[in-house]
Amino acid sequence: MRRSIVILLSVLLCLCLIIVLESCAQKPVESPPRKPIVGFSQLGSESGWRVGNTRDIIAAAERADLQLMYLNADQSQENQIKAIRSFIAYQVDVITLAPIVEDGWDTVLREAKDAGIPLLLTDRAISVSDETLYAGFIGSDFLEEGRRAGRFLLEKTRDMKRVRIVEISGTENSTPARERAIGFREVLDDDPRYEFIRSVNGDFLRSKGLECMENILKETTDIDVLYSHNDAMTLGAIEAIEAAGIAPGKDMIIITVDGEQGAIDLLKQGKINCVVECTPIIGDTVMALVKKLAAGEEIPRVTYSTERVFTEWDEDLQSIPPRGY
Ligand code: AHR
Repeated sequence: MRRSIVILLSVLLCLCLIIVLESCAQKPVESPPRKPIVGFSQLGSESGWRVGNTRDIIAAAERADLQLMYLNADQSQENQIKAIRSFIAYQVDVITLAPIVEDGWDTVLREAKDAGIPLLLTDRAISVSDETLYAGFIGSDFLEEGRRAGRFLLEKTRDMKRVRIVEISGTENSTPARERAIGFREVLDDDPRYEFIRSVNGDFLRSKGLECMENILKETTDIDVLYSHNDAMTLGAIEAIEAAGIAPGKDMIIITVDGEQGAIDLLKQGKINCVVECTPIIGDTVMALVKKLAAGEEIPRVTYSTERVFTEWDEDLQSIPPRGY
């Protein structure tokens, strides 16, 4: 009796073992699918806008469950080219590039294309001989931002006989600097009352905005308008304007672009007259496009952000929610 129980138990044990072995053989242990890897070359940290943009893109990649390789080029195109080459060597699935300037990308983008890695431009555009070197662009319509600034000025100066303008522009050969200048002039050009008395390069930096304005004010204080291509430079310029005993927003019309919290605060205080919004909060849209590219899908050639203009005439200025950058 005891012997037959032992035999029965042994048979049962063998059967269990066979079942376990079979199920293992049928279902190989599957490793979870690899998250797509996105390489992001950010151009620098020149402004509050840029810092906000970086923060937003990093957070969006996490929300989208993508692996992000982030490299900051510290204001150097050479560093951006190196970053793209390291993304290629690492065989990322998609490259996103916020290019500091428009020219000089052909060779490295050809390398990315030859490696079969799609490339998405974020924030700024580029000029290349072959448009198929990148998959698409997501960011602001800088030309329209310039026009919006111009339209505000037209309205604001309707009754003025002459309007002397100082322009502080952004980084040379960058899309926002080029297009914000063109769009602004497009609106004012037919009207002989508008005169650009100075147009200087402030490189999108607060320190340079201050320096440029200080230098200009040493030569002349007969200025009706400051049109500054970003808030960082505007805040610097306002420092110089106030130090010269001029009231910004009253003695001098101040028009700026971006919509950083600091600029909105000065708009509320009457020291800035118009803020043309340029939003850095594009991370979720960037990641949605990255996912499509990683899946081999087509994306639109151009995706523009929706933006608005804040002016001294707005009734709801006090209710503008915190900007987050
Ligand atoms: O490319 C966007 C511009 O770059 C923003 O206006 C500016 O603040 C940033 O440095």
